[in-house]
Amino acid sequence: MSFTRRQMLTGLIGLAAVGFGAGGASRYWLGRRESPAGSVYELIAAPLDLELVPGHQTHAWAFGGSAPGTELRVRQGDWLRVRFINKLPVATTIHWHGIRLPLEMDGVPYVSQLPVLPGEYFDYQFRVPDAGSFWYHPHVNSSEQLGRGLVGALIVEEREPTGFKHERTLSLKSWHVDEAGAFTDFSVPREAARGGTAGRLSTINGVPQAVIDLPAGQIVRVRLLNLDNTLTYRLNVPDAEARIYALDGNPITPRPLGKDYWLGPGMRMCLAIRAPAAGEEISLRNGPIRLGTFRSVANSGALGDWPAALPANPISEPDLANAEKLNFNFEWVGSVSVNVDKGAPPSLWQINGKAWDINDKTCADRPIAQLVKGKSYIFELKNMTQYQHPIHLHGMSFKVIASDRKAIIPYFTDTYLLGKNERARVALVADNPGIWMFHCHVIDHMETGLMAAIEVS
Ligand code: C2O
Ligand code: CU
Ligand code: CU
Repeated sequence: MSFTRRQMLTGLIGLAAVGFGAGGASRYWLGRRESPAGSVYELIAAPLDLELVPGHQTHAWAFGGSAPGTELRVRQGDWLRVRFINKLPVATTIHWHGIRLPLEMDGVPYVSQLPVLPGEYFDYQFRVPDAGSFWYHPHVNSSEQLGRGLVGALIVEEREPTGFKHERTLSLKSWHVDEAGAFTDFSVPREAARGGTAGRLSTINGVPQAVIDLPAGQIVRVRLLNLDNTLTYRLNVPDAEARIYALDGNPITPRPLGKDYWLGPGMRMCLAIRAPAAGEEISLRNGPIRLGTFRSVANSGALGDWPAALPANPISEPDLANAEKLNFNFEWVGSVSVNVDKGAPPSLWQINGKAWDINDKTCADRPIAQLVKGKSYIFELKNMTQYQHPIHLHGMSFKVIASDRKAIIPYFTDTYLLGKNERARVALVADNPGIWMFHCHVIDHMETGLMAAIEVS
């Protein structure tokens, strides 16, 4: 395909006026203008020093002057227009995780666009068909770029007000830093060959052991986003009344959170939590480990009731009776030496016997499956490994319909956490033409083979 031309910043008078340039990385500008047409942003990616470890600087990379990046918001059905300006020392892109959009806006280098070089900008603009919690991140050198902080929430608001009067966004990320705040390796072959290379410092919205204030007695929509490279969080909120309202951007029939929910990398969950009486605290935990604290603060609002279910998104219902079945086998190969001699990441994982090579710009020319536009498909996902893989598809949402490991209440998602040796079935209507990445969202699994392209035409 032909690419939208990258553009240089030089000579853009209008942009110079908003105050970056000579100040370089230390100055940011981000604006949002509401209009009937949608939301308009200018978003700068640039280096930013953070104090994640008290008394130490971490040389992070940030979108819009914070890491996680600025929360972008747009209303369902409207246009999101983002002028993305690259002030990093490296080439990058932005991918809009979970958004059903045209391929040219999908942010995959050499598939949907050329990388945005340092000093260049790229205009992303698309309509957002679905309401929910989504996110954005680069699709270039992802272990390092996401690892350094280039991740951010993208919230698509429902067209009509929901029953929620209060909401919070909690972006979960575990940083690869040492005791002095210096970055450690984002991907180590022996870890990439197992569960993935984990960071050591857990944060919520960039803050270790964050305290989040909630209005006492009120029901709050808590958007939990797993923006981590590697970790699956086993989320639980003991001692609180909590109900799940949406998974990965799509509403479900509300149900109690229960013991815990396994939120893999890239996945999101909307919880409704009833905040306790003023002064009381509840903890948000990953298994037995506290990630942060909700603290109830006095408020005068009338007590709310549990809101009704959120409205469904307009996703086509797959025709299961007439769907074509396709098998996808996820395998461990562990040929650690294959690429290492070339200075490239090892080839450790395969989908249907093929490993993606992130240094080979032609991989997407050989799609692993070709789907006919408008037809329904059932994907049989078979994990033949001892590790779990959050399997993610770009461009389209799919419906999870069955698993040999657990009871499934069918729901739409863009990422399914496929357990060790699990077999699951997901279904979709191939209604978005393009070449779409299909990959594990454990970033160093993706970068060591666990990615493929699926073509819809
Ligand atoms: Cu978050 Cu290729 O995706
Ligand atoms: Cu994605
Ligand atoms: Cu994986």
